[in-house]
Amino acid sequence: MTKEIIALVNQKGGVGKTTTACNLATSLAALGNEVLLIDNDPQGNASTGMGVSFADRSVSMYDVISGKCSPADAVKSSLIPNVDIIASSVNLAAAEVELARHSRPQFLYKEIFGKFFKEYDYIIIDCPPSLGFLSINALTCADSVLIPIQCEFYALEGLKHLLETFKRVKENLNPALELKGVVLTMMDRRNNLSTLVEEDVRNCLGNKVFRTVIPRNVRVSEAPSHGLPVILYDESCAGSLAYISLAKEILDKDCIYV
Ligand SMILES: Nc1ncnc2c1ncn2[C@@H]1O[C@H](COP(=O)(O)OP(=O)(O)OP(=O)(O)O)[C@@H](O)[C@H]1O
Ligand SMILES: [Mg+2]
Repeated sequence: MTKEIIALVNQKGGVGKTTTACNLATSLAALGNEVLLIDNDPQGNASTGMGVSFADRSVSMYDVISGKCSPADAVKSSLIPNVDIIASSVNLAAAEVELARHSRPQFLYKEIFGKFFKEYDYIIIDCPPSLGFLSINALTCADSVLIPIQCEFYALEGLKHLLETFKRVKENLNPALELKGVVLTMMDRRNNLSTLVEEDVRNCLGNKVFRTVIPRNVRVSEAPSHGLPVILYDESCAGSLAYISLAKEILDKDCIYV
């Protein structure tokens, strides 16, 4: 029985959505859960980061949502025990246009994945840097949304729009949707600006911000080029410890309601 479907969303690019999706999925599995990671971004970064080769992406998320195959047929085991993945491919970018004629396009994922999700404890959905069809579908079928925010000057810009979208989806499409929380990523404590941004975000969002902060760590950025989550690449580096701590916080945390 599924404990939670968590969508990683931020329309701002490069804030750590994919890094968090891959490493959170791995950490939750390391802590004893069956996890499905869905690469819901045509860029396919989560697929690459989890070691799925391009040759192994012939059946992907696009095939599932366009009705060419079932979710079960698209699932692959990843290199990580207890983490399965549905990979992405560039043709996912066409989905928005192709599937707009569906009678209830925002509910497509919910209809397709409903029963299938029950086989996992956690489903982690990595979303693209936009609030279009793919992200809205993820929000409509998710239980909660996790927002990575990069510790830099423009961090809060765009967040207001994102939270408004969250509220609109909750009001109109998915009343059960919860804001799981905001996680600060790529923190550099030597940099005053990072610390000021953290203060700003905590003042603004209070207990909606996870205590765990993900540090900027070179091992985190190296790991995807080896097709590995950082926890497998270097289990004792600061980035790995932070992602394990984030997973523990998620397992402990009561969901925050807005
Ligand atoms: N904690 C970290 N330390 C160092 N580098 C990081 C860290 N987190 C992410 N990065 C690097 O920052 C870049 C952006 O990260 P990531 O791809 O996870 O962001 P994203 O939000 O998924 O991007 P997009 O919006 O394009 O999907 C990547 O090169 C990644 O390796
Ligand atoms: Mg990404």
